[in-house]
Amino acid sequence: MAAAGLGLLLSLLSLGAGGDWALLPEQPDLDPACQQLLGEVANGTAALSQCLVRFARPARLCRDCRPEYQQLSRQVTDIALALGNTSESGSCARNLLQSDRIQLILSFTTFFNNTWKDSKCEQCFQSDGGQMLNSTVTFLALFDALMVCFEQNIQGQTIIPLQPGNYSQVCRNCSNSYRKLNALYSQLEEEHALCIDLEDAINITRRLWSKTFFCTVPCGDTVPVIAVSAFVLFLPIIFYLSSFLHSEQKKRKLIQPKRAASNPSLVNIQSKCS
Ligand SMILES: *[C@@H]1O[C@H](CO)[C@@H](O)[C@H](O)[C@H]1NC(C)=O
Ligand SMILES: *[C@@H]1O[C@H](CO)[C@@H](O)[C@H](O)[C@H]1NC(C)=O
Ligand SMILES: *[C@@H]1O[C@H](CO)[C@@H](O)[C@H](O)[C@H]1NC(C)=O
Ligand SMILES: *[C@@H]1O[C@H](CO)[C@@H](O)[C@H](O)[C@H]1NC(C)=O
Ligand SMILES: *[C@@H]1O[C@H](CO)[C@@H](O)[C@H](O)[C@H]1NC(C)=O
Repeated sequence: MAAAGLGLLLSLLSLGAGGDWALLPEQPDLDPACQQLLGEVANGTAALSQCLVRFARPARLCRDCRPEYQQLSRQVTDIALALGNTSESGSCARNLLQSDRIQLILSFTTFFNNTWKDSKCEQCFQSDGGQMLNSTVTFLALFDALMVCFEQNIQGQTIIPLQPGNYSQVCRNCSNSYRKLNALYSQLEEEHALCIDLEDAINITRRLWSKTFFCTVPCGDTVPVIAVSAFVLFLPIIFYLSSFLHSEQKKRKLIQPKRAASNPSLVNIQSKCS
């Protein structure tokens, strides 16, 4: 049964190759122009898939795969635009995009579009679709500099993850760069100018900083906390100091009662405070 089916298919194919199908309204072979278009889409799909996986870890896909993404998007958009055409290009488009149950080209396109959107790649580029944002370039330069700083300051130690080593030099010498990178990240977060490349870069950085090097976080947020804590701790001292000064003042007033009496409002305020 299967062998007969295969034999039939082969004979059909050999017939088709001879061009006997040309009389049928819908042919098993695509016409040469449509075949060429499908080949281009296949090549574009391969190029983009390869790029996305190649640059998945550490994430660099927004930086490195944009030309491939844009190229394939253009190709598929052009085909989709021709769907309603009555011309050859229209029938080619319907054949490629709509003529079977699984609609493979559309599945791939949807997957690529969702991947691109989930990665928020366009947020790292100018809104007119042009160059990479200057802030993105700055962030990546800071990140590279910080990685160089890390490498130069681990002093040739072999790093065993989750096991404390002596990384005091890393923490000391790189904390400025680390703080700068985090500050810029927060700013870009507010400006919605982050894409997966940057999110992954900060993620890697923070993991290295706290889980590998065990450095403390010299985050800007801790400064107010320390200030408030210090203030609260010193409150009793301030209280005793002020009441001490206060009583000294009273003593002086007792010595000069006339002057105090001549200024009743002052006496009033002082009695309220004590
Ligand atoms: C697809 O890529 C292959 C290999 O790179 C090339 O030989 C072929 O001509 C390309 N096809 C089209 C339609 O661009
Ligand atoms: C047919 O589709 C092409 C895109 O492939 C488009 O440029 C052209 O305007 C369409 N023609 C008509 C008559 O709709
Ligand atoms: C980005 O940087 C380039 C070169 O450093 C500069 O010419 C351009 O004006 C900058 N763009 C913005 C929006 O700041
Ligand atoms: C860690 O290394 C620094 C020099 O980089 C040294 O001064 C310090 O004593 C070392 N600390 C420990 C606990 O070994
Ligand atoms: C950061 O890393 C953690 C653990 O590896 C992961 O679960 C998380 O999704 C990452 N965050 C981003 C924004 O990639």
